[in-house]
Parts: sequence; C-alpha cells; structure tokens
Amino acid sequence: HGTSRINEKGHLEIGGCDTVELAKTYGTPLYVYDEALIRGKCRAFHLAFKESGFSYQVAYASKAFLCMEMCRLAAEEGMSLDVVSGGELYTALQAGFPAERIHFHGNNKTEEELLMALEAGIGCFVVDNFFELEVLHDLAQQRGQKVNILLRVTPGVEAHTHEYITTGQDDSKFGFGVSSGQALQALKMATLKPYYNVLGIHSHIGSQIFETDGFVRAVEILAAFVDLVRTETGHTMPILNLGGGFGIRYTEGDTPLPAVQYVQEMTEAVREQFSARNYPQPEIWIEPGRSIVGDAGTTLYTIGSIKEIPGIRKYVAVDGGMTDNIRPALYGAEYEAILANRADEQPEEVVSIAGKCCESGDMLLWDVKLPAVASWDTLAVSCTGAYGYSMSNNYNRIPRPAVVFVKDGQSHTVVERETFRDLVKQDRTRAQELV
Ligand code: LLP
Repeated sequence: HGTSRINEKGHLEIGGCDTVELAKTYGTPLYVYDEALIRGKCRAFHLAFKESGFSYQVAYASKAFLCMEMCRLAAEEGMSLDVVSGGELYTALQAGFPAERIHFHGNNKTEEELLMALEAGIGCFVVDNFFELEVLHDLAQQRGQKVNILLRVTPGVEAHTHEYITTGQDDSKFGFGVSSGQALQALKMATLKPYYNVLGIHSHIGSQIFETDGFVRAVEILAAFVDLVRTETGHTMPILNLGGGFGIRYTEGDTPLPAVQYVQEMTEAVREQFSARNYPQPEIWIEPGRSIVGDAGTTLYTIGSIKEIPGIRKYVAVDGGMTDNIRPALYGAEYEAILANRADEQPEEVVSIAGKCCESGDMLLWDVKLPAVASWDTLAVSCTGAYGYSMSNNYNRIPRPAVVFVKDGQSHTVVERETFRDLVKQDRTRAQELV
C-alpha cells in the first residue's frame, strides 16, 4: 500500500527508498514514515468535506504520532491540531504551528498547561469537567482574555471497538454525560460565564472503529442535545466536533471503511438531524489520528537470536520490542510483518517475533508466516505509524529509535535516535563528576 513495493533486489522499498539501505544508514529499530501516504490521507479528508458542502476543520490528533516535522507537515496540509498536554502543545508551538488552529483536550489539564495555551492564544479549549470549567474561566478572567470553548460530552454511545479504548460511554473519565443531565448543567454554567465563548460540543466515541452506525447514533443524540440547550437557554452553537476513531487495516481481520465514507455518513446524519430540528447547520470538526498516520509507518528491526523449541515454537528475537511498540503487549494488538531483505520470497515457516525486553509478555507478533528466517535479516512490521513511537518508552533503559520520513527516494531524520547519554541526562548522583 502507499508508495511501498518490492524492488529489483527483492527488497521492500518505501517512498522510493530501499528499506534495507535505510536500516544500514540509520540503524535499527527504525520508524519509517511514508510522507506521501500521510499527505494523501489528509487530502482525502479535505476532499470528503469539500464534497459535503459543510464548513469544517480536520484536526490531526497528535497523540497518534508527534514531532516537529509532523506539525510542519500537518500545517502545510491545512490541518488543525488536537493536543492533549503541555508537551504536545510545546512541540506544536516550537514547530510554528498556527496557534489559532490548535485545540486543547484533556481531562486534567494543569494550571501551567492552561496558562501556556492562553498565552499562545490557541483556537479552542475542549473543556472536560466542572473543575476545568471554573479553573480555566478564572485564568481567562484574570488575564482579561476571552476564550473559545467546546464542552466535551459523552453521548453514551458504545463504539464497536476494543473495550479499553472506548471512551464514549456514560461511565467514562472523560466529559459531561448527556443522559445524566451533567452536560446540560455544564452548558448552562458555561454560557453564563463572561470570558467564555461557547462554540459547541465535542464527542469522541472510541478508536479503531469500523462501522459508521456509532457515529450516526452519536449525531442523533448530540443534535437532540444542542436543540435542548437552545430551548433551555436560547444559546445556539455553531460547532459540532465528532472526534476521531476511524479504523485502519492492521491484519486481514480488519475491515475499515474508506475515510471518505465515515465523513459522508457523518455529514449526512448531521444535515438530516439538524434540519429536522430547524437548527442552523453547524461547522463540523473531526480529529483523526490513527487513520492519518497509522498505515504510513513501518518499523524496521534486525533479527538476532533465534530459539527453536522442537514441536512447540520458534522464537525469533528482534532488537526492539515493547519499548518501541507497546501495543501488542498492552492491547494484544496484531500486526503483519515481512522480511524486508527477502521480500520476494515465499513464506515457508511460522514463527513468533519476540522483543528484547526482560519480560515474557514482550512479544511483537505471534505465529507469523515468513520465508526461512536467519539472524541479521531485516524485519519490517507494517502499520505501526499510530501509537507506536508516541507510546515508546525507555524500559530496560533502551533508547528510543530514530524516525525518518521518506518520499521520492529521499529520506530525512525527523527524530534522532536516543543515545545512552540521553538516558542519563536527567540523572543526578551525589558525585556529579561521575556524569
Ligand atoms: N480525539 C480524542 C478526544 C481522542 O481521545 C482520540 C484518541 C482521538 C481524537 C484520536 O483517535 P484515533 O483517530 O486515533 O482513533 N493508544 C490506543 C489509542 C488511544 C486513543 C485515544 N484517543 C491505541 O494504541 O490503540
């Protein structure tokens, strides 16, 4: 998919770059992103909205993968940016991302983070709870600065997805419940606060969603809710943010819809629901993360030790694992892999890919079919672009890998590999001269 193919040498090529060469040049583990594929995904969302006739913003959910170059790319592609922490906000600002297109999420934004965002003059705060409703307003008032807000509501819709990453149900740490009446209460409070400009509501029903019915159901509930708010307060809201969550294909069991289809069905539902209530058609915002970067990312590893337990299993270990991709260990997430240096060979054996961490659960893939595997082969795990690098960690004091963007035969480092020195940079001993 994307710009990947098998070249004359039988090597996996991405963005015109031979991945075996990339592994040699940059070392492994290595995150390789197909830049054209990311740009294509951004453009597909824009196109779908343009066809719908709705005013819109597509905010890239930066938690999926963020670095300064990704911010630059997103800005160039006309995306807005969803950030959820001071660190993501800082990265965006450092990269020169336009502040007015930044939306700030999170269920426990600290005072420092709120101040930083106020100072930067970001476009919108997504207020999550009663505490934030007060704290943010106090800060805005002290600064004499009026701020745009959306209220995050939980419509009570259960998305068809992994239970641990479903956030749209009533019993959730996020947002104001619609059915409990807290959402209405919060809105009434917000509209009475002079330093708030209440633009609308936000809902995110989950992640890696393959159907549109959850979104359509959410739209029905949200439309009824904004209508109720109008009746009770007279306040009409111009923005409806429907969150992210569009699924991608990791393995053959995954059956996502084209991004366009999610947008088409969402916008149709909005048109129908809002016109049925004689409510002005809102501007629609969405926040895709995974569907923008997920399948653009490939992780390259070098195969090291191979342990065969006759009649039971062959463990093939790579030079990374749960430190660069924790999703298999954390969620039981599944991926596909090929040998990048023998991409033209037929699968011959079934092996399991182990990481190098001191933990039995550090397995990347179970029972994957590969050509006869040998030490020093290069393994490419596909579709690791979302929540891979961004959830990477230093367990066992393993440095984070480098990240490169590839396009038209060119590769560029966008995040340097961590060094051992980086690992001890924050450490302090009582004998400072040791460091
Ligand atoms: N908006 C909000 C408010 C969210 O909470 C999320 C994801 C998104 C947008 C983007 O969702 P996406 O389009 O990427 O599905 N670490 C998990 C995924 C956690 C998703 C958290 N929120 C994983 O690796 O699968």
